Amino acid sequence: MSGFHATATPFDYPETRMVEASLGHYSDAERPQLMERAQELLAREDALLVAHYYTHPDLQTLADISGGTVADSLEMARFGSASDASTLIVAGVRFMGETAKILNPEKRVLMPTLEAECSLDLGCPIEPFTEFCDAHPDREVVVYANTSAAVKARADWVVTSSCAVRIIAHLMDRDQKILWAPDRHLGHYLQRVTGADMVRWDGHCVVHDEFKFRALGDLAEQHPEAAILVHPESPEEVIAMADVVGSTTQLIQACQDLPNLSFIVATDRRIFHKMQQAAPDKLLLEAPTSGEGATCKSCAHCPWMAMNNLSGLIEVLENGGNEIHVDETIRQQALRSTRRMMEFTAH
Ligand code: 13P
Ligand code: SF4
Repeated sequence: MSGFHATATPFDYPETRMVEASLGHYSDAERPQLMERAQELLAREDALLVAHYYTHPDLQTLADISGGTVADSLEMARFGSASDASTLIVAGVRFMGETAKILNPEKRVLMPTLEAECSLDLGCPIEPFTEFCDAHPDREVVVYANTSAAVKARADWVVTSSCAVRIIAHLMDRDQKILWAPDRHLGHYLQRVTGADMVRWDGHCVVHDEFKFRALGDLAEQHPEAAILVHPESPEEVIAMADVVGSTTQLIQACQDLPNLSFIVATDRRIFHKMQQAAPDKLLLEAPTSGEGATCKSCAHCPWMAMNNLSGLIEVLENGGNEIHVDETIRQQALRSTRRMMEFTAH
């Protein structure tokens, strides 16, 4: 079974602000002082930095040297819950901050920016999503972590790309039919790999949707020795060409573990920062987003992730702004589906 509901993604592309944000409003000469100030403030505020691989390398470095973490969305959630810090600074997009708050209501959760959205989350508003669920009462509702707290509250399960296949396979063992939202490509991939009986929402990631399989084929011909690493939010034809399909952490791991000396990588290019650390001698090539039919405005780089920067982080630590709040009733409902994933993946 395939898609039920086509939704527009009502986002306003924040290109100009993205460029400013990714520059971070500071020069190379100012960086050491800012890093030092940020470390002092993290210690003063009893805060840990939980950053995604797509954020600015300065934030990733700061997380590494200050006892925080750089991770995929599942590990970000796990790290936040396992830590003793009273404040979590989540450098990523809104759903990541909300997930931290859902799991840790007693902690203060701050973000360097509250404007960092995700096209999957924006493309799955709660009202039509509720209608979709109501139309399929016999199905287990499984949603990607890239959704609002309200959507998670309506779901039976939350999954991330690192555990989605295992959880869907587990539900199939129990003969359950699935309702999936919101990413159409990940949903299609899950259905193909597991054979699940699935109805799917029709959302997409504005970054991964742009990878082009023809141009990828051309690049692969020029680099026949390169392994192709693909995030499962990418189109079906791109996934079909992959040597490894996985979450951001799984792709970094593959880059380290595989014997290949070169890799073509279909995900946000900021992941190269950690890939290069993990495998310094390997050649990393961006999967093409150009070519026939190219429309991307921010090719291979998430405009919302780029809004996180060191200046914003220092400001929220100094002034306590940008706090994440989740309505308590919604939080408790969202906790059930989110905790199921955390418990399932703990073993
Ligand atoms: P990961 O959980 O694989 O890090 O993916 C999150 C994401 O938003 C990818 O676009
Ligand atoms: Fe969302 Fe795509 Fe950005 Fe990931 S890369 S946060 S899925 S818009």
